[in-house]
Amino acid sequence: MEIYNGSATPLLAILREGIEELSGMGAGTEVLHYALKLTLSLSGGYAGYVVRKAEEDVWEIDGVKTLYIPKTLVEELSQRDGLYRIDDELYRFLFEELQVKIHRVMPIKVSGALAGVLLIVDQYERGVGPQETFGTLQEACLSLLAQYTSILLANIRIREEMKEMRVHYEEIIVQKETAEKLASLGTIAAGLAHEIKNPLVSIKTLAQLLPERFDDPEFRNHFANIAINEVDRIGSIVSDLLDFAKSSEPKIESFDMARVIGDTLLMLFPQLTQKGIMVKKRFAEGLPGIHGDNFQLKQVLLNLFINSMEAMSHGGKITVDVFKGEDVIHRDRLIVKVTDTGTGVREEDKIHLFEPFFTTKSAGTGLGLSICKKIIEKHNGEITIESVHNQGTTVTLMLPL
Ligand SMILES: Nc1ncnc2c1ncn2[C@@H]1O[C@H](COP(=O)(O)OP(=O)(O)O)[C@@H](O)[C@H]1O
Ligand SMILES: [Mg+2]
Repeated sequence: MEIYNGSATPLLAILREGIEELSGMGAGTEVLHYALKLTLSLSGGYAGYVVRKAEEDVWEIDGVKTLYIPKTLVEELSQRDGLYRIDDELYRFLFEELQVKIHRVMPIKVSGALAGVLLIVDQYERGVGPQETFGTLQEACLSLLAQYTSILLANIRIREEMKEMRVHYEEIIVQKETAEKLASLGTIAAGLAHEIKNPLVSIKTLAQLLPERFDDPEFRNHFANIAINEVDRIGSIVSDLLDFAKSSEPKIESFDMARVIGDTLLMLFPQLTQKGIMVKKRFAEGLPGIHGDNFQLKQVLLNLFINSMEAMSHGGKITVDVFKGEDVIHRDRLIVKVTDTGTGVREEDKIHLFEPFFTTKSAGTGLGLSICKKIIEKHNGEITIESVHNQGTTVTLMLPL
């Protein structure tokens, strides 16, 4: 890089080239060091140092020496702009601290607060002769440089903060997703306790009768049949629950959607009956198998059924339609529609339904539908909701075949 020699053209060229270079820089320290190099070129300075604010009251020179700048000096520096000749107080302070004769300083501010200072040693230290005053253009260039550097530093800081916030946000989402999963697991578990208790009661009743009816071969047969069936039933309930609890990696396989829907409804059967909710399944004939993650789609259906259940506290009807798309756009799609006769969604809430954390329930997590959307999109499908307030809601899943 050239040293400024007094004419305007190289001055502007230095500034332009420098600003281009600065724009691509990523770290605060890098920016300050390059800004120092530019300042030296623009001002004809001989040497310089970068002072950077490390933390409250701690300033670092060129990243090695620590310097404590008095508050009054910081205030004074914060009020100045561009490169200026320092007064005696600052000169003495810097000389005592650094044993170097500093002649000019350029404060760099971020959002009005001092973030760094460029210290400049003038040419006459080498006997080249002082350059007492700057031309107007030179002053404008230096002031522009100081402002540009400040904006750049502010940008870098914002980018770093945003990166931190993004990491934090992602952590929260993961935590909440786990919570949502546990919550739906709780709903299922409560119902399943009944499911498991019923077969146990029938086994126990029969077992109590066994001693006195042991000689009756018909009874023994009956007992053996019932016991095996009921134990199998408990076994499959437990394994379903375990499958759901496992945070399984997406596992793509071919499966029968009608069966997955049936299994999911079975898990909710106790609550559905208790709430007086009727379920109507309308599955088209000869449906093709679908490729996808069985458990994840179960999780989607479970969320939809639980939402419908929660929207029908005084009973109602859930209709599940499954059919193959017919028109040109939907020909290769399996369409699943879950319709309920619940509270429906208010007009103003509709645009928020898939947003994480949007809920209208006092104990809701607001994550159910956002998880559904994520899963369905991972399967290259689409999920849409139509709803009429106080009438009911239809959620439509469209999945590629
Ligand atoms: N079947 C439905 N009927 C009425 N409102 C629904 C239905 N499904 C979802 N919603 C609305 O969408 C919101 C978000 O649902 P969701 O993401 O599952 O979170 P949560 O169930 O925890 O509130 C619900 O709070 C509710 O207002
Ligand atoms: Mg929900």
